[in-house]
Amino acid sequence: MKRKVSKAVFPVAGLGTRFLPATKSIPKEIMTLVDRPLIQYAIDEARAAGIREFIFVTSRGKSALEDYFDHAPELENVLRKAGKDHLLEALKATNMESGAIAYIRQHRPMGLGHAVWCAKRLVGNEAFAVILPDDVIAAEKPCLAQMVEAYAETGGNIVAAMEVAPSQASSYGILDIAEENGPLVRAKGMVEKPAAGTAPSNVAVIGRYILTPRIMQNLSRIKPGAGGEIQLTDAIAAEIARGGNVFGYRFRGQRFDCGSKAGFLKATVAFGLAREDLGAEFWDYLAEMFAMRRAAQ
Ligand code: G1P
Repeated sequence: MKRKVSKAVFPVAGLGTRFLPATKSIPKEIMTLVDRPLIQYAIDEARAAGIREFIFVTSRGKSALEDYFDHAPELENVLRKAGKDHLLEALKATNMESGAIAYIRQHRPMGLGHAVWCAKRLVGNEAFAVILPDDVIAAEKPCLAQMVEAYAETGGNIVAAMEVAPSQASSYGILDIAEENGPLVRAKGMVEKPAAGTAPSNVAVIGRYILTPRIMQNLSRIKPGAGGEIQLTDAIAAEIARGGNVFGYRFRGQRFDCGSKAGFLKATVAFGLAREDLGAEFWDYLAEMFAMRRAAQ
């Protein structure tokens, strides 16, 4: 049997307090990296991995997300009449097939694990992906597609993994490593946001997961963990404890933490420079800035 993943869960219920006041009236997932909202990068990556059903776990104040993935007949008409085909084309990426997208609300902010659990009935009894849109990954082959390929070989549960500086380990889910096999790391444990100096490794979990339905069952049972929240990491660790397979996958690509201001700025620079229509002008501007700074020193 070929292992397939056709559903992805997008936890997008967070308040985005790190970006206030911007996020007072817009969801952080709508914040723009060059000219596309963060959520668009996540959706494109899911599509490239063969995902057909998109499940958003939202909360109050996130209706802009639903509008973003809806048709905009007036706007499309205006663009069509004006012959702006390239803009119509750009809008196409935001359209979803009827029935392909579902929204479910997390009524209280009880953690990432709880947000994923809210999608339990929509996911049903099959393997599913989770994408955290804050983690933007620039890669030749999109990260989730790399993971789906690995999953076809391994089955079990796979999380995206990346080395971080030891001083950063307490900001992540961290893998306790049993063995390494190329890009795959078999985990014998996993801990969410370990206290400084206690991390079992410096291999961190990044926001891409392929999970078995048992993770949903574990989420129903586990107690609040780090920060008093229901943690996805704990539900995956529980799976290891009961003998399930959990792998870290060292993806090829560059990850940007768009959940932080500095990370968002770095992503803006990197994605801006990589753009054919903007890169040259942007490089010139940066070179000018460096020259001015050097002259001032
Ligand atoms: C979440 C997960 C954490 C993971 C991180 C990756 O944490 O709980 O295990 O390492 O995403 O970005 P958050 O950044 O939401 O606190």
